[in-house]
Amino acid sequence: MIINKIKVKTKTKKYLILIGPNIIKNISSIFSNQKMSFEKCLVVVDKNIPKKFKLNLLKKLKLKKLLIHKFNASEKNKNYKNVDKIHKILLKNRFNREDCLISFGGGIVGDVVGFASSTYKRGIKFINIPSTLLAQVDSSIGGKTGINNQFGKNLIGSFYQPDLVISDTSLLTSLPQREIICGYAEIFKSSLIDNYKNFNFLNKNIYKILKLKSPFIQKAIINSCKLKKRIVEKDEKEKNLRKVLNLGHTFAHAYESTLNFSKKLNHGEAVILGIKNAIKFSHDYNLLSKNKYKMIDDHINKINIISKLEKLFKKRDISKIIKFMRTDKKNNTEKINLILIKDIGKIKTDFQISHAKLKKYLYKN
Ligand SMILES: NC(=O)c1ccc[n+]([C@@H]2O[C@H](COP(=O)([O-])OP(=O)(O)OC[C@H]3O[C@@H](n4cnc5c(N)ncnc54)[C@H](O)[C@@H]3O)[C@@H](O)[C@H]2O)c1
Repeated sequence: MIINKIKVKTKTKKYLILIGPNIIKNISSIFSNQKMSFEKCLVVVDKNIPKKFKLNLLKKLKLKKLLIHKFNASEKNKNYKNVDKIHKILLKNRFNREDCLISFGGGIVGDVVGFASSTYKRGIKFINIPSTLLAQVDSSIGGKTGINNQFGKNLIGSFYQPDLVISDTSLLTSLPQREIICGYAEIFKSSLIDNYKNFNFLNKNIYKILKLKSPFIQKAIINSCKLKKRIVEKDEKEKNLRKVLNLGHTFAHAYESTLNFSKKLNHGEAVILGIKNAIKFSHDYNLLSKNKYKMIDDHINKINIISKLEKLFKKRDISKIIKFMRTDKKNNTEKINLILIKDIGKIKTDFQISHAKLKKYLYKN
């Protein structure tokens, strides 16, 4: 069994990310190697994970008390009500801080379970077993947890690092192509933040990665995790450097909120569209040269879903998009903060623009 290990060491916690095929089958030995033992464990499972994977995990988890809670993953269910449901199960079953919550699902389940873990008795053990590409390359690492409400996305949440992340790449085989593309969006974002070496690797191998071919998919996951690890270790609470990870996300979150978290546009798709707009904006504001803009844009166009996504928005939606951009967490003045790009590996995190000026720009473009 091949297991790649990445160690993350933040001010609040040290933990391992394990990456490889078929590793959940060995969860018991992973726990004993890590000297982890729990009396009680609640596994929150994404309903769409195929039965064979669920059984693989649940059969191998040898615990005195194992509870299972099924979760219907959608942005609309990423809310207080579902956090409360998890808390009530833990309370009814007298879980204490040394017991464990496991998230077995994509970014939605992970964000909700992470938030429930951080707020239950001010912090219970939390293990993340991400089952989507997006969650394996991004959301399971770094400790951001959160839920949505009518004011926008992820506005309620916490920073709470997991105790262990187990990224079993075999879980990805049952993902619809649309979800693989969403994960690819975050892999692509990482390469833009990181360096030309990673970007060129993606440019060369995009179609192999989208088909989950080994060893390309593993390498892409590892590259993204390593970048995120480096950033989170330096700036766990997003005071500064970590903001680079939000490239394209001010646009992306506003698009999702504008469509009221509709299934027509999921998070990864919004990220692709957001990056497309962020690079165009960076070019229009003379931050990114024409050649580099074209090189990045050509790569985005290879993913071949942009025209479908662009059709989801009309000029009349611009006011709503701006309204949501104004409530973005990254703003610390009345102005809107955009995360832009000057070159591959050079991200600008402090660009601010008034909502009136941005509105005018969006109308024109
Ligand atoms: N915390 C962070 O740092 C962070 C970073 C990026 C994104 N996010 C959040 O992550 C969420 C998006 O995550 P996502 O893209 O994983 O979406 P998701 O959790 O909705 O999963 C996508 C879909 O795949 C299904 N699914 C999950 N695993 C499967 C499997 N193995 N086989 C078949 N289907 C499966 C789910 O049921 C869902 O329908 C967003 O809410 C976003 O805000 C958080």
